[in-house]
Amino acid sequence: MATTKTPAQTDTVQESALNELFIDELKDIYWAEKHLAKALPKMAKAATSDKLRTAIENHLAETENHVTRLEAAFESINEKAVAVKCEAMAGLLKEGDEIVAETEKGSITRDAGIISAAQKIEHYEIASYGTLKTLASVLGYQEAAELLDSTLQEEKNADSLLTKIAESGINQSSKTEKK
Ligand SMILES: [Fe+2]
Ligand SMILES: [Fe+2]
Repeated sequence: MATTKTPAQTDTVQESALNELFIDELKDIYWAEKHLAKALPKMAKAATSDKLRTAIENHLAETENHVTRLEAAFESINEKAVAVKCEAMAGLLKEGDEIVAETEKGSITRDAGIISAAQKIEHYEIASYGTLKTLASVLGYQEAAELLDSTLQEEKNADSLLTKIAESGINQSSKTEKK
């Protein structure tokens, strides 16, 4: 009969493999948020409609706060805030740049493309913060869990606002726009 080997147990949560995973993921999203904050002004500038530009600018202010919250989360568990390259966010940002490069300046189609890129980013953040918040709770990091949850709610709001903007006419108007 096959037996499952039980990994060695640690005395404290801080020594656990799950704790290491949590910190690694925190470093990953810290890099992601910092780079997103640098990329959002460019994305806002490329947007055609005022509604989309304003939404992106507002989310830039929130994103800067996400960076600060992550620093507070690191501090709450006595860890140094370190950013480690997040390949997923790097790829998503590159895709956003490509969409802007491939669409006409001043077109509504460009807005539809920017919304698509921005929502992929938000979904990545929602997945990341959902996991991080759960891990923080499991590890007993209450303060970090609360900080991560506040950001998670803002990511969800940003995502639904983008859906609303898309449905408020951008998708409809871009349907008949020439190539
Ligand atoms: Fe964020
Ligand atoms: Fe976000």
